[in-house]
Amino acid sequence: MTNTAEAKQTPATSGLVLHKAAIYDLTLWLLSLGREGVIRERVLRLARLSPGEQVLDVGCGTGTLAIAAKRQVGTTGTVYGVDASPEMLARANKKARKSGLEVILKNALVEALPFPDAQFDVVLSTVMLHHLPGKLRRQCAAEIRRVLKPGGRVLAVDFGTSPTQKRGIVAHFHRHGHISLTEIVAILGEGGMIIVESGAVGISDLQFVLAAAPCGE
Ligand SMILES: C[S@@+](CC[C@H](N)C(=O)[O-])C[C@H]1O[C@@H](n2cnc3c(N)ncnc32)[C@H](O)[C@@H]1O
Repeated sequence: MTNTAEAKQTPATSGLVLHKAAIYDLTLWLLSLGREGVIRERVLRLARLSPGEQVLDVGCGTGTLAIAAKRQVGTTGTVYGVDASPEMLARANKKARKSGLEVILKNALVEALPFPDAQFDVVLSTVMLHHLPGKLRRQCAAEIRRVLKPGGRVLAVDFGTSPTQKRGIVAHFHRHGHISLTEIVAILGEGGMIIVESGAVGISDLQFVLAAAPCGE
């Protein structure tokens, strides 16, 4: 199957949907001083991907992480990306084609994932949860839990200080909200997942939580 960006409309959501895809990538390039690839690889290491795994990137944006994930899971693995923004998906589609890697892109909402129960080994969520109001964060966590296989894992990475940290430069200029490490832990826990590991990614104010769906249900 080729890379596909299915719809041309933004589905209704109270999440903050981005549309300026090229500006998004340029901003990341500038903020990362051209090291976005290195940063994405570091984030992906936390997810412990293996060849052959089925992966979903929720709020995949312009697809950089999903494409890097596909490189890791190889031809026997599958990577899906979901975003509410047709413009972000169109750019992700273009980048995936250019890289020669297949990522299946869907224009859909993270609070209503268009997948059957227990489809994925891994769900990735990077700098997406802070785009959602509180109620949608919990709906999104419940949906992630639903689409994970028993024992499957979710890696959530977002801007937010741990209780002992001060806000850094990126967080300072970032206008639309944060989500604390404590809150990510809480919503994934309330969503029925078991926290495996959490802490600072080691880049800017990024925090991560790795959690797992219970085994053997
Ligand atoms: C800051 S971007 C992060 C993109 C990507 N994960 C990354 O690491 O670069 C947040 C993304 O979430 C998407 N988004 C916001 N609310 C959403 C929703 N309810 N459902 C699906 N996507 C949503 C936005 O369109 C945007 O592409």
